[in-house]
Amino acid sequence: MMRSTLVLAVALMVLGACSHRQTMPDLDPVTVQKSSFGALADGTPVEQYIVTNAVGVRLRVMTYGGTLIALEVPDRDGKSGDVVLGFDTLEPYLTKSPYFGCITGRYCNRIANGRFELDGKTHQLATNNGPHHLHGGAKGFDKRVWKALSFTDGDEGGVRFSRLSPNGEENYPGNLHTTVTYTLDNRNRLRVTYDAFTDQATLVNLTHHSYFNLAGEGSGSILEHELTLLAARYTPADATLITTGEEAAVAGTPFDFNAATAIGARIAQVEGGYDHNWVVDGDHGKLRPHAELYDPKSGRALHIASTEPCVQFYAGNFLDGVAGKGEHVYAKNHGLCLEPQHAPDSPNKADWPSTILRPGERYRSETVFTFSTR
Ligand code: BGC
Repeated sequence: MMRSTLVLAVALMVLGACSHRQTMPDLDPVTVQKSSFGALADGTPVEQYIVTNAVGVRLRVMTYGGTLIALEVPDRDGKSGDVVLGFDTLEPYLTKSPYFGCITGRYCNRIANGRFELDGKTHQLATNNGPHHLHGGAKGFDKRVWKALSFTDGDEGGVRFSRLSPNGEENYPGNLHTTVTYTLDNRNRLRVTYDAFTDQATLVNLTHHSYFNLAGEGSGSILEHELTLLAARYTPADATLITTGEEAAVAGTPFDFNAATAIGARIAQVEGGYDHNWVVDGDHGKLRPHAELYDPKSGRALHIASTEPCVQFYAGNFLDGVAGKGEHVYAKNHGLCLEPQHAPDSPNKADWPSTILRPGERYRSETVFTFSTR
């Protein structure tokens, strides 16, 4: 990847920031290639799709979990590196993945005691994280094989995953039809859009769960990455990571990332490390900046915009020596997640933006990951 091409791409990205579909002169179209990524024990085939743009970004996604397996992005010298943690083969994704790169749902993050009330009826979900429900239960959206359709359209291309989650799956009510689309464009933007509808009132809170390391997966700690979170408030949580219901000001605390700050600068002041939800400034439902992550070593920057009300910043505190790609071993803080979403345990917090979806309504959410260098 030529540095001049990257500079051109970034310049065009800034100029055309609001438009998805602006002509990019002299750039090759985005391409998509499909191949096998193995099969489940029962023989169900799993496919992978390689999406490549004209300015040096290439990603791989698979039908198991709609998982982003790899995301290669140039550094400030044009050298490509894979910036997401993961595995080389399917098998470890089936048996030991800490939600690497997946679509997370039906309800991402935690629901206290796995219990919620909807229209007067109490629903009991799996408690798969201590006493709580996490990331959709024992077999959430991350552990399902999705249907996939690839598409290309000049300066963008990608994969559309879809799936019917049947009424009663993981004890959630309602047949939920979900579509999640990953679109890569020639401005180094990866757009993830979510769309769902149901035939009975249910809960929906979907996110994408990549563990980023902008210096390259396997290169060690992310504690020197600089993070900006555009949020005046966060939602404090108890020792089991259930939100207390309070929205606290970040000012004067280690949770204030309004000015870019190294993640490691204050992490020791936060018991257990960062694993919290920030209430992003501005109106939810509107695509607006949530976060920026910058790695001073490689010069890679990741900007995240989303329509979601909050963003969960998880500093990879529970990574405990996961044998990942190549010979890489992922230890504590070797990757971090920035997950736009509704706040944890929203179904039990009446004052917070609702995660209930009813028949006739449409769930829509969009998150844009934009890569650049400086
Ligand atoms: C949560 C962590 C959890 C991790 C699982 C994150 O979204 O915030 O608490 O351990 O997912 O891999």
